This record gives sequence, C-alpha cells and structure tokens, in this order.
Amino acid sequence: MRTRLPARSAVIRALFGLAAIGLAAQAASPALSPTVPLTEGPFYKAGSPERSNLAASVTAGQRLTITGTVSDLEGRPLGRAWLDFWQADSAGRYDNGGYQFRGHQFADAAGHYVLTTVIPGEYPGRTPHIHVKLRAPGGKTLTTQIFFPGNARNDSDPTFDRSLVVAMSTDGKSGQIDFVIPAP
Ligand SMILES: [Fe+2]
Repeated sequence: MRTRLPARSAVIRALFGLAAIGLAAQAASPALSPTVPLTEGPFYKAGSPERSNLAASVTAGQRLTITGTVSDLEGRPLGRAWLDFWQADSAGRYDNGGYQFRGHQFADAAGHYVLTTVIPGEYPGRTPHIHVKLRAPGGKTLTTQIFFPGNARNDSDPTFDRSLVVAMSTDGKSGQIDFVIPAP
C-alpha cells in the first residue's frame, strides 16, 4: 500500500494537470473571431455629429438600414460601444468640407446598433464600402470597413475582406453585420 499511495497521488495530480490544461485551452480559444482591422483611408474626419441616420436630408441613392451588434470575443455584448461611420455618397464622393455621410452613435445596452444610410458609390480604386471606427467604453479603437455582396470590383480591391461583407436582405433594403472586439 505504501508504494501505491504516491503512485495514486501522482495519477490524481496528473489528472488535475490535464484539467488545468483543458481550462487554459478553453480560455485561449475565444468563441468568436475578432473583426479584421482595415486601413482608415484618407477621408476620416474626427468630430462627426451623433446620429444614426446619415441619409436624413439625402434624396439620391438606395436607402439601406444596417443593424448588428458589438460584442467581445466571448460573445458578451459591449453596451454603449462607440461607432463612428463615414462613407462616400451614392456618387462616390466624400464630404471633406462638412459632415454629410458622417456620424457617430453608441450601441444600446445589449450592444445593438442601427445605421440608416444609402449604399455608397464606387470611387477610383475602391469597391463600395463604409468605414467605421468602434470602441468599447474604456477600450481601444478598432478601425475597419464593411462591404457589400456581389460587387464586381470586390475581388480587385486590395482592401476588400470577405469577412466584412454585410449580409443583405433579398430586397436590398437592409443589411446585417456584427463586430467583435476585445473587451477593455
Ligand atoms: Fe473610403
């Protein structure tokens, strides 16, 4: 018996060790893939007005409502996350003198956001896209872009990333994309 006790303890220690390794592996592999960061480009302007409707005074272009959530890597909502959107108008022009098609908003307590806008036009070298910066309260800013399915120029735009394509409704009037950023 005397010789078996240490052996049994060793087995127990080993099992606890394996359990600890398993827990560590779980912690190291998050449930969700983080949103891919992309270049901010040359047209960002700080100080956009707080608004979720970028098309309130706009008549040209195809209206679009984009919804989604901001969550951390474990899928926990990041309530009150800041999202700052900017984009070209439907003719592919940025308003660099003012704030048309620029606006920031805060996700609700459950991490939901709603953006009302129009589908942006192409401009030289770029497939249609909307820029966004987002940040959880107290966290770091992530800058990226979102895209639209089926555009002929998607694959020839070196900035295009398939993971950032908005899921569009069949009528083309609404889209959905979630953002995943590290918790602060
Ligand atoms: Fe752009």
